[in-house]
Amino acid sequence: MSTRLRDNRKNEEIRAKVRETHLQVTDFIYPLFIEEGNNIKKEIVSMPGIFRYSLDKINEELDEVVELGIKSVILFGIPLHKDAEGSESWNDEGIVQKAIRYIKKEYPNLQVIADVCFCEYTDHGHCGVLCNHDVDNDLTLVNLKKQVLAQAKAGVDMVAPSGMMDFAVREIRAELDQNGFQHIPIMGYSVKYCSAYYGPFRDAADSAPSFGDRRTYQMDPANRNEAIKEAQADVDEGAVILMVKPALSYLDIIRDLKNNFDLPIAAYNVSGEYAMIKAAGKNGWIDEQKVMMETLLSIKRAGADIIITYFAKEAARILRQ
Ligand code: PBG
Ligand code: ZN
Repeated sequence: MSTRLRDNRKNEEIRAKVRETHLQVTDFIYPLFIEEGNNIKKEIVSMPGIFRYSLDKINEELDEVVELGIKSVILFGIPLHKDAEGSESWNDEGIVQKAIRYIKKEYPNLQVIADVCFCEYTDHGHCGVLCNHDVDNDLTLVNLKKQVLAQAKAGVDMVAPSGMMDFAVREIRAELDQNGFQHIPIMGYSVKYCSAYYGPFRDAADSAPSFGDRRTYQMDPANRNEAIKEAQADVDEGAVILMVKPALSYLDIIRDLKNNFDLPIAAYNVSGEYAMIKAAGKNGWIDEQKVMMETLLSIKRAGADIIITYFAKEAARILRQ
């Protein structure tokens, strides 16, 4: 009982040596919102600093991303035309397919990940095909395969199904394998909660459900044991990265997955988490940069190897100082 623990906090030299967690720019995946059309650069009101871009303007964003050393982006498409099934999502000339081709051509070293879902493409805003006012799991799987195949043909590096459909990873893995895309890995949105923290994203991506909510497919925030079951299912079905989403109210879940699975864990620091820090920062109520770094560090300390975050660029700037 004679250890003086403060000895290890005396100065920055010793603190740096005993520090247990380190953020790196390579930990980050930066989300991009790409809207069909021309000459678009629209700031998302509830997400200051985050913009929707059309493809003809995305290079200004990507130049910065690459210059800052960020290695990965995840794409969300905002199509011009929506319908009941979200068929634009598997159009070879659809916005995400075009974006994948463009980015892989102009920025070949950037890892391009595609979110796989339908809520941005359906006129009702739900994450799949409706049947009796609910998303039909197995009909949605049929369309998921089409969407993933279109993304694969466009040259995507990794796909990330986010709709919380049962067997999505299994079906996507099989479809990719059968079509010669064995090398495209799947990051599962394995444990995705039905969260109010997605609010700003739904403005950003135009993907709010026109009726009801997502409680019949996304997880109940009250559940912890179920997270293990969801993650195990994705492992069994062939995912190589497991994601927890949102991050901050679910740090316990991130740690559970880290302790239970021998695969890299990703955490999605979602739009509402970003918006809260930005809003308090703008008001001068918190030191925005410090709270941002502490937040990202907490996600990593909880067990995330990979952090999907709208703060990627700002954090990268601080990390390279
Ligand atoms: C689509 C999707 C959502 C997010 C990522 N993919 C929204 C939702 O489920 O409504 C949320 C991201 C964020 O809030 O930053 N399924
Ligand atoms: Zn969705």
